Amino acid sequence: MNPIIEIENVTYSYQNKYQSIPAIREVTTSFEKGKLYAIIGKSGSGKSTLLSLMAGLALPEAGEIRFQGVPTDSFDLDQYRREKVAVIYQSFNLFPLMTSLENVCYPLELKGYSPKEAAVIAAEYIKKVDLPESVHKRFPNMLSGGEQQRIAIARSLASGAQVILADEPTGNLDLATGKRIVKLLSDLVHKDQYTVIIVTHDSSIAEIADEVLQMADGRL
Ligand SMILES: Nc1ncnc2c1ncn2[C@@H]1O[C@H](COP(=O)(O)OP(=O)(O)OP(=O)(O)O)[C@@H](O)[C@H]1O
Ligand SMILES: [Mg+2]
Repeated sequence: MNPIIEIENVTYSYQNKYQSIPAIREVTTSFEKGKLYAIIGKSGSGKSTLLSLMAGLALPEAGEIRFQGVPTDSFDLDQYRREKVAVIYQSFNLFPLMTSLENVCYPLELKGYSPKEAAVIAAEYIKKVDLPESVHKRFPNMLSGGEQQRIAIARSLASGAQVILADEPTGNLDLATGKRIVKLLSDLVHKDQYTVIIVTHDSSIAEIADEVLQMADGRL
């Protein structure tokens, strides 16, 4: 039992001038290295909000999130977001004006690799997600949805993140393509010891997960 992410008594609400909308209510849970998790639950139950909190994109209103035992508020938040956790989305979220290779190079260059070194490492990650060299020079709009999601995963791996948070990663893909993406994520968990947390409506993902967490009305 060696949790990579711990969530303790976390509460979060969205605030504006007129109201406060509670989204996460006193959630406590933990995630271990080398496991695949599925988070399920109705629309509006707080799944995406919980991922944002783990990703450091929002800060808990109360409670604490720890990464390898260290409270996330004691990290440099930008560095935490860049290097500790990666998020992939239903809509892939690649940089549209960069080629596939440049998308994957991006986090490597942020880490200080020269463009040349970054290109060599990025090419390895693109191979790891089972894409041919012929995609390197293509822009995201010249790739299929499944290929775009693979590039997004390659970019996550290039960031060095050990935890991949995936918000409905197969939501825009046909069934067969979605299954292949899930297989890729599951291989990263079981062969390479990544931690993958997938928010999903897809019961077949929940079936292969090591643990399934259900959210309802901001609670687990
Ligand atoms: N940007 C926002 N501003 C205000 N309220 C928000 C915002 N985003 C989400 N909420 C509210 O917070 C609650 C949790 O939303 P969240 O997006 O986490 O749900 P979800 O489980 O991911 O839903 P879905 O399955 O539809 O994606 C909901 O009541 C929602 O209306
Ligand atoms: Mg959501």
